[in-house]
Amino acid sequence: MPEKLSLIIRKEKPADYEAVESLIQQAFALAEHRDGNEHRLVKNLRNSNAFLPKLSMIAEHNERIVGHILLTKVQIKNGDEAFDSLALAPVSVLPEFQNRGVGGKLIEAAHHQAKTMGFTSVVILGHEGYYPKFGYKPAHTFGISFPFEAPPKNCMAIELAPNSLANVSGEIIYPDIFFEN
Ligand SMILES: CC(C)(COP(=O)(O)OP(=O)(O)OC[C@H]1O[C@@H](n2cnc3c(N)ncnc32)[C@H](O)[C@@H]1OP(=O)(O)O)[C@@H](O)C(=O)NCCC(=O)NCCS
Repeated sequence: MPEKLSLIIRKEKPADYEAVESLIQQAFALAEHRDGNEHRLVKNLRNSNAFLPKLSMIAEHNERIVGHILLTKVQIKNGDEAFDSLALAPVSVLPEFQNRGVGGKLIEAAHHQAKTMGFTSVVILGHEGYYPKFGYKPAHTFGISFPFEAPPKNCMAIELAPNSLANVSGEIIYPDIFFEN
C-alpha cells in the first residue's frame, strides 16, 4: 500500500522554479505525447506577458514538490471580438506519484483560482480519456477552434461558470512563445 498523501496545493514561487522544471522533465520522460521541451515551455511562459503567477501552482507532499500545473492567458478571437480565456499547459506529476489523484487536485485547484480571478473558461489540447473527468468537452461544441491541426477529440474547453461560453466562439490565439519553443 503506498503511503497516504498529505497534499498541499499552493502558488509556485521563484524558489521552486528549478525543482518544477526537473519535475516536468521527469513527468514527461515516459509520457505518450511529449516533445522533450515541456520544461522549457514553462520557463519561457514564465517570462512572457501571458504568465499569471497565481495560476502556476504546485502540489507538495511532505515538503517535496510532486506536481505542477500552469494556466496562461490566451484569447478566443472572432472577427473584431476577443474574449479572454486560459490555456492549461502543461500539468505534470512525478511518475511515482501518478494515478493517486494529484493531477486531478491540481486541475480543480487551478480552476478554482482562475474563477476567483474572473476567468470563465479554459482550453486544452490533451488526452480525451483524462480531461473530460473534470468537465472538459470538445471545443468545437462551443464553436471554438485551435490554430493548428489536431484531432477534434483532443481539442477541449471547459466553462468555469454555467453557460460562460454560450456567447463565445472563434479561434484561440496563443502567445507566440507556444510555437517558438
Ligand atoms: C497526466 C497526469 C498529469 C495525470 O495526473 P495523475 O495525478 O497521474 O492523475 P490522477 O490521479 O488525477 O487521475 C488518474 C486517472 O487518470 C487517468 N490518466 C492518467 N494519466 C492519463 C493520461 N495521460 N491519459 C489518459 N488518462 C490518464 C488514469 O488512468 C486514472 O484513471 P481512473 O481514475 O479511471 O483510474 C500525469 O499522469 C502526468 O504527469 N503524466 C505525464 C505528463 C503528461 O502527459 N501530462 C499531460 C499533458 S499536458
